This record gives sequence, structure tokens and C-alpha cells, in this order.
Amino acid sequence: MTHARQHHIQVVAHRGASEDAPEHTLAAYRKAIEDGADALECDVRLTADGHLVCVHDRRVNRTSNGRGAVSALELADLAALDFGSWKTRDAWRGRDEEPDWEHRPEDLEATSVLTLERLLELVADAGRRVELAIETKHPTRWAGQVEERLLLLLKRFGLDAPASPAESPVRVMSFSARSLHRVRAASPTLPTVYLMQFVSPRLRDGRLPSGVGIAGPSIRIVRNHPAYVERLKKAGHQVHVWTVNEPEDVDLCARLGVDAIITNRPRAVLDRLGR
Ligand code: G3P
Ligand code: CA
Repeated sequence: MTHARQHHIQVVAHRGASEDAPEHTLAAYRKAIEDGADALECDVRLTADGHLVCVHDRRVNRTSNGRGAVSALELADLAALDFGSWKTRDAWRGRDEEPDWEHRPEDLEATSVLTLERLLELVADAGRRVELAIETKHPTRWAGQVEERLLLLLKRFGLDAPASPAESPVRVMSFSARSLHRVRAASPTLPTVYLMQFVSPRLRDGRLPSGVGIAGPSIRIVRNHPAYVERLKKAGHQVHVWTVNEPEDVDLCARLGVDAIITNRPRAVLDRLGR
């Protein structure tokens, strides 16, 4: 079923086209752009030597052949790791044949650790407008350094001070209101998204932390409390929902008129929306 929609729903590739390719790799983001995603989502963390890299977990153990916390490793340590073959391993799990454990694609860059800088270059070279939704992970640990580095990097790409939030191809997301506050204090026109795993009682009426324009509820919140989406919209906020992979959830989001769907399967969601 597709929807005759009154409004455009942005399709955001969560960690890239992460169902098809290893999350947060160049391969996953290239695939998302090929698939027609409107925007790319990525999580950022600081390495021990101060580089912003796109890694979701605190440790690299799940998504690479290395071990340890990102914050304790330098960029050169991370660059020596393989962030791709765990996905192959997952795909082979439960099958009778043995995978080629040592196999890495010829394009090593595609499955290496991805810096935010490289991702910004990819987006700049996409040949069409591709937006970027950057999530600051555990920003409190670094007491402002994640946001500081992020804004410096965005400045180098001319993206730190858009004329207005609506025109910005970049937005910053976080579960931490404090992190978003830091971003807004330094760059008031950069749009910010307050991510929610649950709705705190003081925000149930549709308000968001001061100055934040966009709500980022989980699909679980949306399923259980569809009326909350209406309240957010009445309060004048955009609604960006994560992580929406099931067709019936895409339909629900379309019916409720959300503004963005964040998904591991951008092509399937675009198809479902009739695009
Ligand atoms: O897009 C928001 C979503 O990514 C938040 O959850 O754990 O996947 O970073 P997580
Ligand atoms: Ca994320």
C-alpha cells in the first residue's frame, strides 16, 4: 500500500543503508545516497586524539575486529581496524557453509572507520542535496568538546551558521538537552532534534527543551501514543521518528503526518511512500 501524501516525508538513512551494508561505513552511506535517501543519520564520538568518528557504541567490539573504547583509541588505531566484516559474519550466522573470514573488499576505505570529515566530503560531492542528521553520543563525558569539535568542523564546510534552521542541510540530534543547548548557544540557527526514548511528564503537553525545534520520538512512543505526535505538531514542532523499519510503522508515520522517518532501509521506505 502506498500513500497519497499531503506533505513530503524526509527519508533518513539510519547509520547509512545499514540493513544492506555495515553501519557507519562509507559503503553504507554511498548505498543510502544511491538508494535516494534524503538525509543520512550518523552518531559521532571523539577519539583519544580529538577526531570525530562515526561509531554508535562506546566500544568498537561489536562493529570491528578490534576491542576497546573509542575514547581510549587514537584515529590511527581505529584506521587499522576492519569495520566491515562483522556484517558478513552476521549474514552467515546459522548457515552451513563457512564464510571467508579474512575477506575484505578491495575498496578498503569503504569499510574503514569513517570520520565525520569524510562523511561531510561525501555529502558535499553527492551531486544533489543530501542532508545530514548528526547525533552527539554521550556528550556529557567530554564536557562540551564533542560539540566544540563538531561546530569547528561544520565551520570548515561552511555549515555552522545557516541563514535559518529551515535552510540548513545539517541538524544536530541528541538525547542530551544539555548537548543541544551547547550547540544552540554557539550556533543559534543550526536546527536541533531532541531524541526521546520515553516522554518525560513535564514534556507530555508537546513542549520541548527551550529552543529545540524538532522532536525525535522513538517509533515505540509513536505506536503507543499517536496523540503525542499531534500535540508536538500543534506546539509547532517537526517530528522525526526513529528507527522505522516495518511497513506498518511507515504507514502509521505517514498517517500521522510526521516530517522525517529515520530507517535502516531507506529504499524500502521510499518504495512504501510511493517515491
Ligand atoms: O536517529 C536516532 C537514533 O539513532 C537514536 O538511537 O541508539 O540508534 O543512536 P541509536
Ligand atoms: Ca543514532
